[in-house]
Amino acid sequence: MLKTILVTGGAGFIGSNFIRFVLTEKPDATVINLDLLTYAGSLENLRDLPSADRYTFVKGDICEQEKVANILRERNVDTIVNFAAESHVDRSIHSPGVFIQTNIFGTFSLLEAARKVWLEENKQGQQDVRFHHISTDEVYGSLEPGDPAFQESNPYSPNSPYAASKASSDHLVNAYVHTYGLPATITNCSNNYGPYQFPEKLIPLIILNAVDGKPLPVYGDGKQVRDWLYVEDHCKAIWAVLEKGMVGESYNIGGENQPTNLEIIHTICSILDEKIPNLPYTPHKQLITFVTDRPGHDRRYAMNIDKIRTELGWTPDNELRKGLYATVEWYLKNKEWIKRIHEKPTYQDWLDENYSKRG
Ligand code: NAD
Ligand code: TYD
Repeated sequence: MLKTILVTGGAGFIGSNFIRFVLTEKPDATVINLDLLTYAGSLENLRDLPSADRYTFVKGDICEQEKVANILRERNVDTIVNFAAESHVDRSIHSPGVFIQTNIFGTFSLLEAARKVWLEENKQGQQDVRFHHISTDEVYGSLEPGDPAFQESNPYSPNSPYAASKASSDHLVNAYVHTYGLPATITNCSNNYGPYQFPEKLIPLIILNAVDGKPLPVYGDGKQVRDWLYVEDHCKAIWAVLEKGMVGESYNIGGENQPTNLEIIHTICSILDEKIPNLPYTPHKQLITFVTDRPGHDRRYAMNIDKIRTELGWTPDNELRKGLYATVEWYLKNKEWIKRIHEKPTYQDWLDENYSKRG
C-alpha cells in the first residue's frame, strides 16, 4: 500500500510540503505531482527535492479526466491525494466561477477517473487503492463565542463561495463511497501556516508587508478567530489517515489554538522586532491598519480533534509561537523564493489567460 501516489496541486503551499515530507520520510513511496501551475502554484516550491528519482512532475488540470485516467493506468497509481483547488476566500468573493470549476467539477472529474480505472477496469478494492480528499474546517460555517469546537458530526453550513465549493466536493467524495464503493477518505483541516505559503494569506502577507514597511491590513475589528496549524503537522496527519483511516470517514485536523487575527499579527510583529530590530518601522505594530471587513466574514473556527487523536494517534507537535517563529525565519531567509514568486503572473492575468479558455 501507499507506494505510488498521485498528488494533485503539489506545487501549492500544502501540497509541496506534503511531497517534501513523503520523499524525506517515506522511502517506499513514489510521487507523481499533477499541477496546473496557476498563479498560486510554483515549481519554486519544489526546488531541491530530496530523492528526485522517486518524483515526477506533470503539468495539467484535474478537470482533464482522460489525462488523469492515463496517469492512473500508466503509472499504476494506488493512492490519490487531492490538494488541487482554488484556495483563497477573498478571491472566491470576487471570482467565484473558477472555484466552482476547479473545486467542484475538478474533484468530480478526478473521482470519475478513479472510478473508471480503479473500479471498472482494474476491479481494485479497498485493500488496493485509496482516494484522499483534502478539505477545510470552513465547510462547517462560523462559530459564535462559547460554541463548542466543530466535530465531524456537525452539519455543513458553508458561507463563502470557497467554503461552499469545498463542501460540495466533500459531498461528491462521500457520494462516490456510498454509490460506487470508491475507497475514499476526507480530512477537514483548519488554517495552515509555514514555509512556501503564497503571500496572499494572512500570515505570509503580514510578514512580508512588515519587512517592507507596508501597512498590515486588518479586516474589520481583527477579533475573528482561526485555529492555526503548522503545515508539517498537517502533512503528518494526512499520512496517518492514509495509513490508518477508515474508508468513508472524515477526520478533523486542527492546531488546538484559537488566537484572534490581531493577536497573530501582534505576535508576528514582536518576532520581527526581535529578529530585525534596526528597521525604521520598528516596532512593527505601528504598521497595523484597520480596513473594510470581508463580506460575510466568518467570525470563529475551532476544531475538535478527538477523533483523529484517539482513533489514529495523531496530535499536533508544533505550538503556535514556535511555528510562527520558524515561519518568520523561513521568510526572512528565503529572499530569492519571494523574488521569484513576485515575478509570477498576477491572479487576474492568470484568470484572463486560462479561465476564459475553459469556458
Ligand atoms: P494553494 O492555493 O497554495 O495551492 C493550490 C495548488 O493547486 C496550486 O499549486 C495550483 O497550481 C493547483 N491547482 C489549482 N487548480 C488546479 C487544477 N485545476 N488542476 C491542477 N492543479 C490545480 O493551496 P493550499 O493552501 O496549498 O491548499 C491546498 C488544499 O488544502 C486545498 O484543497 C485547500 O482547500 C485545502 N486547505 C487549505 C488550508 C490552508 O490553510 N491553506 C486549510 C485547509 C484546507
Ligand atoms: P486567510 O489567510 O485569507 O484565511 P481564511 O480566510 O481561509 O481563514 O485569512 C485569515 C484571517 O485573516 C481571516 O479572518 C481574514 C483575515 N485577514 C485579514 O485580516 N487581513 C488580510 O490581509 C488577510 C489576507 C486576511
